[in-house]
Order: sequence, then C-alpha cells, then structure tokens
Amino acid sequence: MNLIFLGPPGAGKGTQASMLSVALKIPQISTGDILRSAVRAGTTMGVRAKSFMDSGSLVPDEVVVGIVAERLQDDDCTKGFILDGFPRTVAQADALSEVLAGLGKQIEHVISITVDDEELLSRISGRRMCAKCGKGYHLQFDPPKVPGVCDNCGSNLYQRDDDKVETMRKRLDEYYLKTAPLIDYYSAKNMLRTISGIGAIEEIQQNILKGIEGS
Ligand code: AP5
Ligand code: MG
Repeated sequence: MNLIFLGPPGAGKGTQASMLSVALKIPQISTGDILRSAVRAGTTMGVRAKSFMDSGSLVPDEVVVGIVAERLQDDDCTKGFILDGFPRTVAQADALSEVLAGLGKQIEHVISITVDDEELLSRISGRRMCAKCGKGYHLQFDPPKVPGVCDNCGSNLYQRDDDKVETMRKRLDEYYLKTAPLIDYYSAKNMLRTISGIGAIEEIQQNILKGIEGS
C-alpha cells in the first residue's frame, strides 16, 4: 500500500507513520529525517538544506523531489511505502505523480492528520528525539522510561534545532501557505482520509487503520 501522511508540524505524522510502518511492514520515508541525516553528515545537500531548515522554511522543491524519486526506487518500496512530510507543495505533488507514473505505481490514500495550533505548539516544545535511532518522545505525553535516555537504544535524547518557538511559528506559516492547499488537491482526487490527531496515540493509529481498510 502506498500512502502519504499530511499534516502540520507536530501533528503526529512521524509518530503514526513509524507505528504503521511496523504494522504494515512497509518503509516510512520521512524527508525531514533524511534531510537531518544529511545535515549531520555534512553532505553538499545537507549544507544547502540547513539554512532553510533552521529558519523554518521549506527546502527547495527540486532538492526534496530528487531525494524521494531516488528513495522510491529502493527494493524495500516494492510492497508499498509511507511518505511522511512529502509532498509539501503542489509542485512536489505534481512531481510525485510523474515519478510514480514512471514506476507504474500510484498513491492509494492520503492521511490528513488534524490538530489545532495551540496543541501543536505544546507538542513541539516538549518533543525530544533520540540522537541515534531517531525515535521521538514527548516530555509529558510520551516520555521515555528513563529521563533523557532512548527506550530503544539507550542513546541520549535531544531537542531539534527547529523546535524553538520562533522557528515553530514560521514552520506553521509555511504549512498554511504552501502545504495546506494539498488538502483540496487530494480531496478533489478522492484520495483524502481525514483523521483527528487529538487523543491517545494508539487510538489514532486504530482510526488510521480503519480509514485505510474501510475505504
Ligand atoms: P519535518 O521533519 O517533516 O517536520 P514537520 O513537518 O515540521 O513535522 P514534525 O516532524 O515537526 O511533526 P510530526 O507531525 O512528525 O509530529 P511527531 O510525530 O514528531 O520537516 C522539518 C523541516 O525539513 C521542514 O521545516 C523543512 O525545512 C524540511 N522539509 C522536510 N520535508 C520537506 C519537504 N517535503 N519539502 C520541503 N522541505 C521539507 O509528534 C510531535 C510531538 O508530539 C512528539 O513529541 C510526539 O511524541 C507528540 N505526540 C504525537 N502524537 C501525540 C498525541 N496523539 N498526543 C500527544 N502527543 C503526541
Ligand atoms: Mg516528523
């Protein structure tokens, strides 16, 4: 099954996509995670992307489209994939359709996760990430068993550079201006499944599964 997870920063795309990836045994492809790895590794792409990410702006379309086009050709995508945080603009969505057509594939469902702005800000400010395996936590809503330490791999947790309040507001502005139009874009194609992102993480996962299976 080929899926897209759409939603504002902090909606729970990564949290839900990683759980669904395990349940459906298909890879989660997070452009944010791929870009952060490139920044850490200091690659040419990472150096280029860093200033956009640090300011809360979107990275140019051609950079992310190139990343996804390449990643979708990997063997682990043959049975399906979950795109987490891509596409983020209408130009990216159009480019994705072209790439998929070339591979003889198509998207089955676009899961749009909705959460109000106040909740988003509180989620982002409390988020912590594992420096090694990338697992996400929340200080209050989804804390690790030992403070500051990843349950999965025992590495230290850190706060993302773009999770500061000022950058967060810019990311939200970017979302409403450039990404939210994709809701109408996919709705018009009858691909959109809207899921409330408020509530227990497990309950939201069940609603996503029902949305996929019941349509
Ligand atoms: P990216 O990494 O994709 O960030 P984002 O879209 O801003 O989304 P987040 O990862 O912040 O939130 P999420 O929805 O994954 O929420 P999460 O599950 O972590 O992008 C970062 C940057 O990279 C962009 O700003 C841009 O510069 C660049 N970029 C990436 N893709 C791009 C693209 N396609 N085009 C251009 N540029 C691109 O959850 C958030 C917190 O809430 C966590 O702490 C979690 O534990 C907690 N939580 C989750 N669910 C719940 C719940 N139900 N109840 C309570 N807490 C919850
Ligand atoms: Mg994420």
